[in-house]
Amino acid sequence: MVDINNAIIREMIISEKGFLDVEILVSLDLFSEIEKLKKEKNAIILAHYYQEPDIQDVADYIGDSLGLSQKAESTDADIIVFAGVHFMAETAKILNPSKKVLLPDLNAGCSLSDSAPPALFKIFKDRHPDHLVITYINCSAGMKALSDIICTSSNAQKIVESLPVDQKIIFAPDKNLGAYINKQTGRNMLLWNGACMVHEIFSMEKITRLKIRHPEAKVIAHPECEEPVLALADYIGSTTGLLKYSQTSAAKEFIVVTEAGIIHQMQKSNPSKTFIPAPPNNACACNDCPYMKLNTLDKLYLCLKYELPEIKMDETLRLAARKPIDRMLEISAHYGL
Ligand code: 13P
Ligand code: SF4
Repeated sequence: MVDINNAIIREMIISEKGFLDVEILVSLDLFSEIEKLKKEKNAIILAHYYQEPDIQDVADYIGDSLGLSQKAESTDADIIVFAGVHFMAETAKILNPSKKVLLPDLNAGCSLSDSAPPALFKIFKDRHPDHLVITYINCSAGMKALSDIICTSSNAQKIVESLPVDQKIIFAPDKNLGAYINKQTGRNMLLWNGACMVHEIFSMEKITRLKIRHPEAKVIAHPECEEPVLALADYIGSTTGLLKYSQTSAAKEFIVVTEAGIIHQMQKSNPSKTFIPAPPNNACACNDCPYMKLNTLDKLYLCLKYELPEIKMDETLRLAARKPIDRMLEISAHYGL
């Protein structure tokens, strides 16, 4: 047993697959312990808006997928703790390979990323050799290596519009984002049949009923939602876009149609406004991403303390995956995104 600041930490069994049996009998002040470790180790915590509020509160930077990638590339910290899901931490490693990149729980995957296995996608791509491949960042490094340009929800439209109108395009893996961009741009991109389990579960009927009960509320939705749900929205955008809209809009009430973690920042920056999480299409009132919520403050602390689990990557794969991300970052910089 080890005594740290009046707290008792019992045996921790750590494996490269994650923390198997972490038992902390503590009254540890994790917030101050994490702050100490960050300074000692020159570490930075990058967190996605879908992380639990405590994690957002200890993060050095909170953002959407584009902002997080840009931050991961530019940081001079020695250690990047990525409080998000696996593809995000992997992207940080691809962009900044000399850094140690840690993910609090290696099982934090993504249903959207899982919907596009690279071997299957390669067969599909080979059938359409005249198509350029634009892939949403929510995918594995293997998928990125098969792509021409990566995009996120905040730059997808600009990236598609930057290409000649007659350019044939495959868009993967999110069919909902792809369909939304097709609608916005008038293109006819070929869509891979993938989707996010969290954004597909929202109920059009329940949102409609909420709108009737809150007639002044603005419906704000992420483009990973299905078309009938997006049709109800007053504003559609990335998580950063949704947050900015909630800050600048004169409205006092918002029905938020994305993972509920974003509401923490919305409420913090707009304390007098009301944010109503959109209900899912089942009896459960919860619209949390089960992968994002695998990360906890305990795991984040242990991850920083023991520098595990770490993201490792084959260098040939990393270089192949980097090219389309660089194209995304160049186009984004060109448009000031
Ligand atoms: P953005 O934060 O880039 O909008 O992405 C949302 C998402 O689903 C991340 O997994
Ligand atoms: Fe993946 Fe959806 Fe979770 Fe985002 S919210 S990490 S797209 S499963």
